[in-house]
Amino acid sequence: MTYNIGVIKGDGIGPEIVTEAIKVLDAVGAKFGHQFNYNEILMGGCSIDATGEPLTDEAIEAAKASDAVLMGSIGGNTSTSPWYKLPADKRPEAGLLKLRKSLNLFANLRPAYLYEELKEACPLRDDIIGEGFDMMIMRELTGGLYFGERSTKEENGQLVARDSLTYSETEIRRIAKRGFDIAMKRKKKVTSVDKANVLDSSRLWRKIVEEVAADYPEVTYEHMLVDNCAMQLVKDPRQFDVILTENMFGDILSDEASMVTGSIGMLSSASLNDTKFGLYEPSGGSAPDIAGQGIANPIATILSAAMMLRYSFDLDAEADAIEGAVKKVLKDGYRTIDIMPRDGSAVKQVGTVEMGDLIVARL
Ligand code: IPM
Ligand code: MG
Repeated sequence: MTYNIGVIKGDGIGPEIVTEAIKVLDAVGAKFGHQFNYNEILMGGCSIDATGEPLTDEAIEAAKASDAVLMGSIGGNTSTSPWYKLPADKRPEAGLLKLRKSLNLFANLRPAYLYEELKEACPLRDDIIGEGFDMMIMRELTGGLYFGERSTKEENGQLVARDSLTYSETEIRRIAKRGFDIAMKRKKKVTSVDKANVLDSSRLWRKIVEEVAADYPEVTYEHMLVDNCAMQLVKDPRQFDVILTENMFGDILSDEASMVTGSIGMLSSASLNDTKFGLYEPSGGSAPDIAGQGIANPIATILSAAMMLRYSFDLDAEADAIEGAVKKVLKDGYRTIDIMPRDGSAVKQVGTVEMGDLIVARL
């Protein structure tokens, strides 16, 4: 089969890590007899520099015309980069939000998995880590505070800023269904996270999640307040299977979940709509501080490519091959700098390109 992949390399470490993911995809293609075509799409700071816009209409059309999009990361240093002197809707992040909305990518899947070999990079105590943990954050991605009306106006002699948080039944129901569907393929547990003791949007969230839950009698579900969830993620992360939550809470909790697995450099993500199309990107950012040094961890991007094969192309064996090769590389003792063990145990530190080569060699 031939697949057309839109590629957004983006800013910072983006180009370096995407290059490694493409290398791995090509190796998988050669092994399993697939042809992957890549069409480069500009988004983020590099698009601002080239076109004045973080995402042009042409780029959106190119993304829509692809079977799936693989992305690196966008944005720069928010204190020093000139991109952050621009109005908010012209900055790199605005491109990503526009792409999510234009493609209706409402379901964001962020797996947080602790590899046996990386227990030494996990900041939690051994008794908390136990047998390790494996959770999936299901984050609603096209509603809530991110896309509500906002304004900054002068009122009674002072500036007043407003952001609004809106959710409709439809928006909640479709992400909840996705969450329960995914739970059915995992440990059949859903923790729905909200702030129903304060917010109306959360009370509606809870009501709709309960309605959806009724259609999944095999799935155990619970509600948890977001502040408690933030605490439980470090106190007892093993209790979680699927965490289902709205956009802003999911943004925050997924960074937290990634850190308890040792490094954000390991975590992939998929943003899906109700077709087979998806946008696949590492959970981490553009890390401008280490860009161009050849030390960034390409694994999250490589695993995002594996998610693309699995969710958009139904190529499960191919995705398994990539995930297996990543495990093997870790087992063989190779680490990028972000996942070096705390206790100085003997492993070999490698750079971005070498990590990509080592994974290809194990496919
Ligand atoms: C993420 C990022 C984005 C978000 C930023 C870059 C707009 O933090 O994907 O988690 O907040 O959604
Ligand atoms: Mg985030």
